[in-house]
Amino acid sequence: MVRPMQVRSAVIPAAGMGTRFLPATKAVPKELMPIGDTPAIQIIIDEALGAGIDHIVVVSSRSKPAIEQYFAPDPELIEALKAKGKDDVAERIASIGRDWRVTITYQDNPRGLGHAVGCGREAVGDEPFAVLLPDELMGDSSLLAQMCGVCASTGGSVVGVKQVPREDVSSYGVLAPSGPMDDDGVIPVADLVEKPPVDEAPSEFIIIGRYVLTPDVFDEIENLTPGSGGELQLTDALRAQASRSPFSGVLSSVDRYDTGNPVGFLDAAVAYALRNPDMADGTRAILTTHT
Ligand code: G1P
Repeated sequence: MVRPMQVRSAVIPAAGMGTRFLPATKAVPKELMPIGDTPAIQIIIDEALGAGIDHIVVVSSRSKPAIEQYFAPDPELIEALKAKGKDDVAERIASIGRDWRVTITYQDNPRGLGHAVGCGREAVGDEPFAVLLPDELMGDSSLLAQMCGVCASTGGSVVGVKQVPREDVSSYGVLAPSGPMDDDGVIPVADLVEKPPVDEAPSEFIIIGRYVLTPDVFDEIENLTPGSGGELQLTDALRAQASRSPFSGVLSSVDRYDTGNPVGFLDAAVAYALRNPDMADGTRAILTTHT
């Protein structure tokens, strides 16, 4: 059977408790916290849409009902905004789930990233799909678009990659390349290892939170046993794929913000505000008062 290679769906794991942002996340999911005027998850969705994806699969938790509320249609709010002449924001709100499809699915037990991605299986179906970890914001869609192209041309899974100093590798999944990187930044991958000790790391190429995966990964996920940290690790499912199919890393050249901690989140918010014509001057003026 020839599989369709167009990537249509993106899975966004969003069931985490946001422990590092408590007490803010006691009531407000981290994914909805604002980067300027936009919830962080919408920036991730916009990145996916920019890469040609039109089905967003949010893996949420039933303890975070505000996520569902964000995606629910709200015709009354739209009418009220239009009546006030606020057509721009009315249109932004109307486009949520209208110009693209959203499926919300649930991960009721936090058993690891592999398990979270597996919760998207039914929504994704039997075709290649993207995974975007919402703790990392990218400057634009170019990395994801390139990764979709590499998946289509190789027929195998692809991860986004960054090179970091060796002492930093232990916080990430690390690639074992099987050959040199080409001129487009594509690295053939023989193996992957989740959070290795520095002296056992096979390279300085780490997995960043972007994946384009072939659907056979779902079978690997079902076979997972607890790995690093006692969790069902996505990296372990990927290593099974890499052992028998083409597998690639793509070195990222886009800006990347790690919003997993409050200072990183602030960094991302400032960077986005400086890029927004409505906020740039005011933000710059504020920053000068703090230096
Ligand atoms: C996860 C993955 C890891 C990857 C990282 C990127 O780890 O398991 O392989 O390098 O995301 O941010 P986590 O940050 O959830 O511990």
